[in-house]
Amino acid sequence: TKKLIKTVTLATVIGTALGFTSITFAATEIKAAFNQSDKHPQYLALQDFGNKLTEQTEGRYKLAIYPNELLGDQRAALELVQSGAIQMAIVANPLVENYDKNFGVLALPYIYNGPSHQEAVFTSDLLDELFESTKRFGFEVLTAYTAGARSMYTKQAPVDNISDMKGKKVRVMQSDTMINMLSCMGGTGVPMSQGEVYSAIQQGVLDGAENNEITYADLKHYEVAPYYSTTSHVMVADLVVVSDDFMNSMSKEDRETLRTLAKGSTKTEFNIWNQRIEEAKKFAISNGATFTDVDVTPFQKSCQPLQEKLITNPQQQAMFQSIRALG
Ligand code: GCU
Repeated sequence: TKKLIKTVTLATVIGTALGFTSITFAATEIKAAFNQSDKHPQYLALQDFGNKLTEQTEGRYKLAIYPNELLGDQRAALELVQSGAIQMAIVANPLVENYDKNFGVLALPYIYNGPSHQEAVFTSDLLDELFESTKRFGFEVLTAYTAGARSMYTKQAPVDNISDMKGKKVRVMQSDTMINMLSCMGGTGVPMSQGEVYSAIQQGVLDGAENNEITYADLKHYEVAPYYSTTSHVMVADLVVVSDDFMNSMSKEDRETLRTLAKGSTKTEFNIWNQRIEEAKKFAISNGATFTDVDVTPFQKSCQPLQEKLITNPQQQAMFQSIRALG
């Protein structure tokens, strides 16, 4: 203990001499909000990013992820990031679309040919400018993660074609594009946050919802809506957002390290995602879900005019074309 006291005293003396307080030696915590479980591919990818960040900043930063909506739903989480109350969050693209309509282009129905097309877009620099432009709202988008392809799932019977969707009330994420999308699929979109979906279907307020296989399985939605029909109608990104105040508090070097590592974590996330889909599907099936393959052509045709309707300025047009060109 004598030795320990000596060491501590010495550190304090040196620290004081250099003009530091002891706080300088403690890692700065980055609080990150996440709405799903700590087994989810995005949680794992973000955790890996956090470990690398701690390592590469020599312990100056430490990431703490709060899963399962502990810090609120995505809309609340984004507001916390925006105000600087927390530093980071993963939120679905529609939430950011509500700040800037140009984001809607990223999640148009059938804009990606499949996962590898989306991966090519998200690992390119095509979206960098758009992602930086949200600084005017007090946050920056660091990178995009995949959340697979979304399909319809319902309570009563599978969906084979557009006429099956008639009169169906289906939960969608809270944005114009998502509501419009449900109409072109033939049904009615009901905007709602993720946490309320299970009981809304159970109580009959909704006929179903639409989501990827992993979320469908993780949130046990098969219990209330056992018919999963692979319409694969849209691939909606999730965005890793960071508070602008926080970014400005970092040294230039650490900020660049954080940006590079975040961007790099997208590839990790895609890999984990692709490995997990089959497992999620099997899990849902073993718990009573039925998966039905759907001919997507009629849905694709029906949603084509939506692409034209929602692309209203030259920036969106240019982005749409560059995304398609990578397909
Ligand atoms: C997906 C997505 C989430 C989103 C959810 C939803 O799971 O990854 O970010 O919250 O869909 O439908 O709300």
